[in-house]
Amino acid sequence: MLDYVPTGIPGADKILGEKGIPRGHSILICGGPGSGKTTFAIQFLHKGATEHGEPGIYISLDEDPEDVKKNMSKFGWDLDELEKEKKLAFINVSPVRAAPSEKAGLIQLGMKEFKLVKLLEAIRMGIEEVQAKRIVIDPVTIFTLQYPDEVERIYAMRDLIADFRKTGCTNLLISELRGTGLEREHQFEEYLAQGVILLRTVMKDDRLTRMFQVEKMRGLEVDNQPRPYNITNSGIEVYPTLTVFK
Ligand SMILES: Nc1ncnc2c1ncn2[C@@H]1O[C@H](COP(=O)(O)OP(=O)(O)OP(=O)(O)O)[C@@H](O)[C@H]1O
Ligand SMILES: [Mg+2]
Repeated sequence: MLDYVPTGIPGADKILGEKGIPRGHSILICGGPGSGKTTFAIQFLHKGATEHGEPGIYISLDEDPEDVKKNMSKFGWDLDELEKEKKLAFINVSPVRAAPSEKAGLIQLGMKEFKLVKLLEAIRMGIEEVQAKRIVIDPVTIFTLQYPDEVERIYAMRDLIADFRKTGCTNLLISELRGTGLEREHQFEEYLAQGVILLRTVMKDDRLTRMFQVEKMRGLEVDNQPRPYNITNSGIEVYPTLTVFK
């Protein structure tokens, strides 16, 4: 019997079979720039830490976590306080950060040194620090880019997901979506992850509409229809009874 983790995102759990995400699964959150991927992920961690007794870790591969915390505080989430209480941990493993920024050559060196081992070390440290039950990697795209060879890339992602399984932590892997609107190619990560949630925008009646869709969720009967969502002053809200297309 699978156990489920509520996302805490208004409307999303209704779409996820009134349950949430199967515990311990790796879920890809795929979206374009500014679609709310980081907001979704931090809201998931915040709700877990404040309402479900589940500490979490946010592993940043791109933005400085201090900037993320600052940007996300406008939604009313006191992330510094949760960090002090050891309910959340923010870890920066950006491959670019490690190298001096003045010399492009050294940045390259930093990129190549960053691979699965470093990411697993960050995950282990975070789990020890706060006894994490929820983990976010934002964006996992930076990790996959470290493997230019496609076969190596697929194996690295498979290994990462297998290691997550051993931790028992429910995890969100933030992925940058290529292609706009409904036209796009499937990314290999979508086949490997146990669940995929898409955050996209489409033109409807001459207006851009944000569209939330559960593409797949192994072990759970879900509503696969695209549903509108918004980013409001209190975070992401999905409208599970509304339709995007007539
Ligand atoms: N209160 C608000 N109301 C409406 N939209 C908001 C609000 N606050 C932030 N936004 C929008 O949310 C988006 C940023 O969300 P977020 O950083 O989660 O996106 P992202 O998908 O992680 O972006 P990136 O691709 O840059 O990492 C911006 O487009 C911003 O305009
Ligand atoms: Mg982001």
